[in-house]
Amino acid sequence: MKFYITTPLYYVNAKPHIGHTYTTVAADCLARFYRMREYDVFFLTGTDEHGEKIATAAEKENLTPEELADRTSQVYKDTWQKLNISYTKFIRTTEKQHEEIVKKVFLKLYEKGDVYRGEYHGYYCIHCESYVIPEDEKNPICPDCKRKVEKISEPSYFFRLSSYSEKLLKFIEESEFVKPDFRKKEVVNFIKSGLQDLSITRKNVKWGIPCPIDKNYTIYVWFDALLNYLSGIGYLYDNEIFEKYWPADIQLIGKDIMRFHHIIWPAIIMALGLPLPKTIFAHGWWIMGKEKISKSKGNVVSPDNFINEYGVDPFRYFIMREVPFGLDGEYSEGSFKKRYNSDLVNDLGNLLNRTLNLIEKKCDGIIPDTPCDDKIINLTEEVFENYKRKMEKISFSDAIEEVWKLISFLNKYLDEKAPWRETTENPDKILYSVIEGIKNSSLMLTPFIPQTVEKIFYMLGIEGKINNNTFSSINKRVPSGIKTGKREILYPRKK
Ligand code: MSP
Repeated sequence: MKFYITTPLYYVNAKPHIGHTYTTVAADCLARFYRMREYDVFFLTGTDEHGEKIATAAEKENLTPEELADRTSQVYKDTWQKLNISYTKFIRTTEKQHEEIVKKVFLKLYEKGDVYRGEYHGYYCIHCESYVIPEDEKNPICPDCKRKVEKISEPSYFFRLSSYSEKLLKFIEESEFVKPDFRKKEVVNFIKSGLQDLSITRKNVKWGIPCPIDKNYTIYVWFDALLNYLSGIGYLYDNEIFEKYWPADIQLIGKDIMRFHHIIWPAIIMALGLPLPKTIFAHGWWIMGKEKISKSKGNVVSPDNFINEYGVDPFRYFIMREVPFGLDGEYSEGSFKKRYNSDLVNDLGNLLNRTLNLIEKKCDGIIPDTPCDDKIINLTEEVFENYKRKMEKISFSDAIEEVWKLISFLNKYLDEKAPWRETTENPDKILYSVIEGIKNSSLMLTPFIPQTVEKIFYMLGIEGKINNNTFSSINKRVPSGIKTGKREILYPRKK
């Protein structure tokens, strides 16, 4: 089974902030989840490097657009490495291969009649790189970013978006394409309000892929960038890879770029005669004081401070756990610390520490030879089934909550059974069962906190003995008779 997942391509005019890391960490968690289910996963991410916005940002810094793109795409790569992002390919839209494919697609659609030459009259928002229809003609502002927009009139090449309205509506209404479900209506209404053909060339933008049929134009940056999802897996140049992975299984985006992904993108794919992606999931925003966290609002939260203070896994854990994926979430350092101390330090870290201390005292640090308590086996089965279902539905915080049912149970089980008391019967079985439960909770947490799980496996002494890369290890009991590893505090408490 294959699984193809993508993130949007990030603009190179700004460094990554918490919002950008959100989409990518989420994609990474899904990629790891499906790998653990033994799917053949292709995970694509990268940078969006053309267009007016990038050219202007470069000029401000006295750089060429190429220099800015080289610099920022490297910062993205470094950030992804730091955050342990297991992408298969990092694509840059300035790569030759991608540029060639974009030109080929343009030509293909032109020859087919889905791209034609016309005249554009209307407003253009530089910030959104988009032609827009302002609500108020007297004070024309962009309906998306609320910035002032300019009126322009120019000949242009258009993509026949309007002719796909009916087909799009039918597809969206009958499929799982638009997720979460509550977003579907918005997309349907937008299509019903009437789609206009989309201008896909720019006359005055020099920093872009040259239009293959008219040297006076470059290709519109969104048309160029969207095609990365095809070019990144070999469309029109490596048929074997393309046939293997297309169509995309899950494409993750933020809710601000839904129109491009839920309307324009499927229409382009229809025009190319390709099968459509299964799901494009739009997540919510990280906000601060009711405003979206963004460079232009000047309220960016860099992931670096948190990673340096708390570590990579707590950061990944927090952003996936705190807010239901799909809704907006208010960001605050206080909530971060609270989650860290309660979930990671208390529930998980203490459980491990207590159990290993007891194994040391009661069993000389050797995993005892005894069967596992059926209660824990049964609860694990139930939790695992629910966890899988929630992950498949891209409900990260619910999936983690499921795992926490097991972790909370293990804490309670240990408190109630009190294997440290001399009068407790069969303390070995209690301790062994908790170890088995920790191993299984850890496996389910691997997509979120992979480095931590490696540490836990090492401390349990099962590193290399139980494979932490596959969920089939849930059914493999922790071997008895092995020595537990060197203990350390998993997460130090923060004041
Ligand atoms: N370059 C386009 C995407 C082209 S895809 C073919 C773009 N880039 S972006 O850098 O502006 O944003 C990339 C992603 O980051 C989007 O999914 C966006 O929603 C996400 N986020 C940026 N700020 C965000 C928050 N404050 N919160 C959550 N995610 C947000 O759009």
